[in-house]
Amino acid sequence: MPTPNTIKLSRAGAIAAPVLASLLGACAGNGQGLDANGNPVGAGGGAPPTTLTADFKSIQENVFTPICVHCHSGASAPEGLQLDEAHSYALLVGVASAEQPSLQRVNPGDPDSSYLVQKLEGSAGITGARMPFGGPYLPQSTIAVIRQWITNGAQSPSASGTSASFAVTTLSPADGARVHAGSRPIVVAFSSEPDMSLMNESTLRLERVLPEGLQEVPGGVTLSLARGNPSTVLVTPRQGLAPGQYRLSIGAGGGLVPADVDARALQQAQSSEFTVEDRP
Ligand code: HEC
Repeated sequence: MPTPNTIKLSRAGAIAAPVLASLLGACAGNGQGLDANGNPVGAGGGAPPTTLTADFKSIQENVFTPICVHCHSGASAPEGLQLDEAHSYALLVGVASAEQPSLQRVNPGDPDSSYLVQKLEGSAGITGARMPFGGPYLPQSTIAVIRQWITNGAQSPSASGTSASFAVTTLSPADGARVHAGSRPIVVAFSSEPDMSLMNESTLRLERVLPEGLQEVPGGVTLSLARGNPSTVLVTPRQGLAPGQYRLSIGAGGGLVPADVDARALQQAQSSEFTVEDRP
């Protein structure tokens, strides 16, 4: 049986460095000729003008989408971290790192203890490689903008906007994902802040899929809101998950319907089925 490390490394190795280099074109560099926001001064030399500012939308558009998404997407995204626009905020802010679960990927207000920043800077204590995997790495001026967004509280892009309806935006692990026991945060994110009094083990379920049917996970789960990110619910099994097939579902049980804090009911039930594998 191949170890997950081999899988990860060969996945990463398949990504050609020149692709990254060309994607990075506009922001790679040594930090010289960049203004306080990490933007090229004058934006000459044929480089497209970038508008990197310390807000999530700008960081998504200028960093995550062009540089990280081709590895960090889909059910097999490294460490379950999907960085495409639809998933990144919910899986970063207030959510534990898979590599170092004592740290949050983004800890609002505290860039130094945010694992994302440590991985981008290649800090001494990280597990695995500096990001982007294989380089070229982000200029410190770009990392400084990401740090500033975290210092400012890691606001979401929709912090002020109100969405039309209450929906599930992210289930992680995603449908079809294969994960290792205890290695990955289990996350359900919504388009707006859920009413936690309606969130319980009948509305938000983590069940084991067995030949004889669905069975509640032994010990049950704890539900909590991600710190600084009130539309993301963390699902923490009270006991480690045994290897096997699991189903994460929201709003699928009859009876109680989840709603958001503005009393809008969840429009559509959602679920994902994932496999927990033995540790190698
Ligand atoms: C070439 C593929 C590749 C690219 C591009 C890439 N990553 Fe990664 N990333 C990985 C792999 C593989 C791992 C797991 C192994 C490791 O950490 O060395 C990982 C792990 C991570 C982790 C740790 C997650 C956790 O929960 O512990 C973070 C954070 C991360 N990447 C952020 C980024 C960011 C931000 C970018 C873009 C600036 C990026 N990565 C670009 C492949 C990539």
